Amino acid sequence: MKIAVIGTGYVGLVSGTCFAETGNTVTCVDIDQAKIDRLTQGEITIYEPGLEKMFLKNLRDGRLNFTTDLKSGIQGAQVIFLALPTPPGEDGSADLKYVLGVADQLGQLLEDYKVIVDKSTVPVGTSDKVSEAISKYAKVEFDVVSNPEFLREGVAVEDFMKPDRVVIGASSDRAKKVMGDLYAPFVRQGNPVIFMDEKSAELTKYAANSFLATKISFMNEIAQLCERLGADVDLVRRGIGSDERIGKRFLFPGIGYGGSCFPKDVQALIKSSEGVDYDFQILKSVEKVNEMQKTHLIPKIKMHFNNDLKGKRFALWGLAFKPNTDDIREAPALYIIESLLNSGATVSAYDPEAMNNVKVLLGEKIKYALNPYDSLIEADALIIATEWPEFRTPNFDQISSMLKYKVIFDGRNLFSIPEMKDLGFVYYSVGRS
Ligand SMILES: NC(=O)c1ccc[n+]([C@@H]2O[C@H](COP(=O)([O-])OP(=O)(O)OC[C@H]3O[C@@H](n4cnc5c(N)ncnc54)[C@H](O)[C@@H]3O)[C@@H](O)[C@H]2O)c1
Repeated sequence: MKIAVIGTGYVGLVSGTCFAETGNTVTCVDIDQAKIDRLTQGEITIYEPGLEKMFLKNLRDGRLNFTTDLKSGIQGAQVIFLALPTPPGEDGSADLKYVLGVADQLGQLLEDYKVIVDKSTVPVGTSDKVSEAISKYAKVEFDVVSNPEFLREGVAVEDFMKPDRVVIGASSDRAKKVMGDLYAPFVRQGNPVIFMDEKSAELTKYAANSFLATKISFMNEIAQLCERLGADVDLVRRGIGSDERIGKRFLFPGIGYGGSCFPKDVQALIKSSEGVDYDFQILKSVEKVNEMQKTHLIPKIKMHFNNDLKGKRFALWGLAFKPNTDDIREAPALYIIESLLNSGATVSAYDPEAMNNVKVLLGEKIKYALNPYDSLIEADALIIATEWPEFRTPNFDQISSMLKYKVIFDGRNLFSIPEMKDLGFVYYSVGRS
């Protein structure tokens, strides 16, 4: 099948590459000329495990193409995916200007029947708005489908190639058939393709992310209680996670959820609810707890240093919002950095993949280390903000000989408390006394 993907970010590039991998001819369109130039020349623009190899193979074989020209990009395509940003607007609701802007353009460009698929995360009712925007100009038949994306950054290729489920919101049989055919190679093991109406599909995505965010905030509150009551959140987690009704995943406490999805999607669902006079109380609390949790380590750091961080230097391991990605959108590390800098401290940070993105955002406000140990030079203490695998078994002798004080603030509970005690560290973590 010939398909077009509009928007070549984390979702667009992964989807486009994976569709090419199953034999489709894919053209990815983006307005960012520099990004398209790099991709055309075979330079991958995001870090995502397994993506580069697949991208290079399909680029070489001619199944993956890139352009900034929407008109030529959609030429001959049966299906057009919209993988465009839906950032929070000023009031927190999803800003649809990118999606509806492209829909407007598509209306003027369509020359034959096409299935237009919304892969962006969008509020309920957006597929109707997209249809209206296209209808304003379109002289040919088209169908609009809602196909929310559930990939997780860090394992996006695996998630896309073997999805737990594919959700397709469509009313037309013609569009359902096209979508079913397109996804057939990805669900050969029997994982379901769930057909539903467009509105239910749109809400499914928000419900999924909001539920996961709720699990995280819930565990972070249990961790707060553990600290106050002298219990150990790791044991509580194992105790409840072995109950099949609860499940083991998403129960790890930490310094809050970040990324480009959970914060904005939780906010957008709260706003959507307000729009229909519903007060989504649980989600408001989920958001509030997360705000608090992002700087959970700061009071501990301040207390340890008698409320005087002026002139102190902190080594910070991890900048990405989670491991195996270079994405720093809403990363808890950024909130920690801001708070430390405001208190007069300096930061020397290391992240395996996300440093270039942070450089663009923060420039010379912090130092960028060459490796984890380089960040420890002249540092008073170590803070861990992202659980990259390479931070899990570090050389503690080296850490201990380089730090001015043997103190670690661990926002991801990477180490065992007895072991840290044996090694002579003052060790702060989350939800463990
Ligand atoms: N990142 C994730 O893990 C993830 C997972 C599931 C769903 N989503 C949703 O998918 C959507 C896209 O997310 P993302 O993380 O890929 O965003 P992104 O910011 O990484 O990529 C969006 C791309 O769209 C391009 N763009 C903007 N306007 C354009 C236009 N008019 N024409 C062509 N290209 C244009 C941008 O240049 C950018 O490259 C969002 O709605 C998001 O909520 C994201």
